Amino acid sequence: MRREVDLADERAVAADGTDAERHVETSLRPTRLSDFVGQRELVGHLGIVLGAARTLGHSVDHLLFAGPPGLGKTSLAAIVATELNVGLRVTSGPVLTRPGDLAAQLSDLEEHDVLFIDEIHRLPRAVEEVLYPAMEDHRLDVLLGRGPTARSIRMELPDFTLIGATTRTGLVASPLRDRFGFVGQLDLYEVDELERIVERSASLLAVTITSGGAAVIARRSRGTPRIANRLLRRVRDFATVSGAHEVDDALASEALTLFGVDERGLDKMDRRILELLCRQFRGQPVGLLTLAHALGEEPATLEDAYEPYLLRSGLLVRTPRGRIATDAAYRHVGISAPGGGLV
Ligand SMILES: Nc1ncnc2c1ncn2[C@@H]1O[C@H](COP(=O)(O)OP(=O)(O)OP(=O)(O)O)[C@@H](O)[C@H]1O
Ligand SMILES: [Mg+2]
Repeated sequence: MRREVDLADERAVAADGTDAERHVETSLRPTRLSDFVGQRELVGHLGIVLGAARTLGHSVDHLLFAGPPGLGKTSLAAIVATELNVGLRVTSGPVLTRPGDLAAQLSDLEEHDVLFIDEIHRLPRAVEEVLYPAMEDHRLDVLLGRGPTARSIRMELPDFTLIGATTRTGLVASPLRDRFGFVGQLDLYEVDELERIVERSASLLAVTITSGGAAVIARRSRGTPRIANRLLRRVRDFATVSGAHEVDDALASEALTLFGVDERGLDKMDRRILELLCRQFRGQPVGLLTLAHALGEEPATLEDAYEPYLLRSGLLVRTPRGRIATDAAYRHVGISAPGGGLV
């Protein structure tokens, strides 16, 4: 079980480098719904769903959380289990390669437990089919043996809650999506919400930060709490090495610029995307595959991790013919837009 949690968090490690960093990330997770900053509508709805289940004494309906990486899907799943005081099992789509893998997880559940499947859109078809009767009728049909002697046995499962997380609802097959009683879409965070997250994390990490310092980090976090926490840790490192006892706006700006994060929160990869669109393709619409190829990135990573913020910041638009950089992107890159002066 522990191993599966590790696998699910692999991306966080890849982004952050070390095990110690991952441990810090886990320690910064909000544990109660009241600690969870932002996503007001989703949190409001979830509060009602949880409250009703508690009053009526039954399990919560199956929940699906969707949204870009690092916005709090895994944190919410853990919060649901904590709020209901039930057990939590964690696994992920790519780990469940065979129906038996899922059957093992399901048959281990206790009454009211939460089973969290991260990256649920990556479940193989055959495994997904085991999930349908389990979600609907708490029933597990297991095939024993092979060929003519094979027989199917049916197991009753306890009343449990499945929580799925996905970076894209569009990739969750509709029969699966339809079996969730509640789908919560997480959106990128506002700057003031990220500021509160930075302040909360700073106090957990015993970092003294001014509100100006928190605001600088929040503005450069691409709408993403995980990035806000990561930048805070880099700023803390910088403060430690330079012997500063407090993080203010000047120190935060200096540190983040040093780490290659610009005032809009764009990192090297974001800037490469914009540069490619503006300079190399000179305003031509560029298809996802072409762009991914030019960047040496997976198309899915580009779509899930980079585009949402560029779209929201008005630097990129998606058209049926491909991605185009906006005038604001040309301004950011510092060249004139095709067909106009420096806009
Ligand atoms: N609303 C929030 N309030 C405070 N901290 C948050 C919030 N949402 C996320 N975080 C922080 O961001 C980190 C990343 O969140 P989490 O792992 O839940 O994201 P995720 O959506 O599951 O990402 P992925 O898609 O990569 O699995 C957490 O460690 C937590 O510290
Ligand atoms: Mg997660």
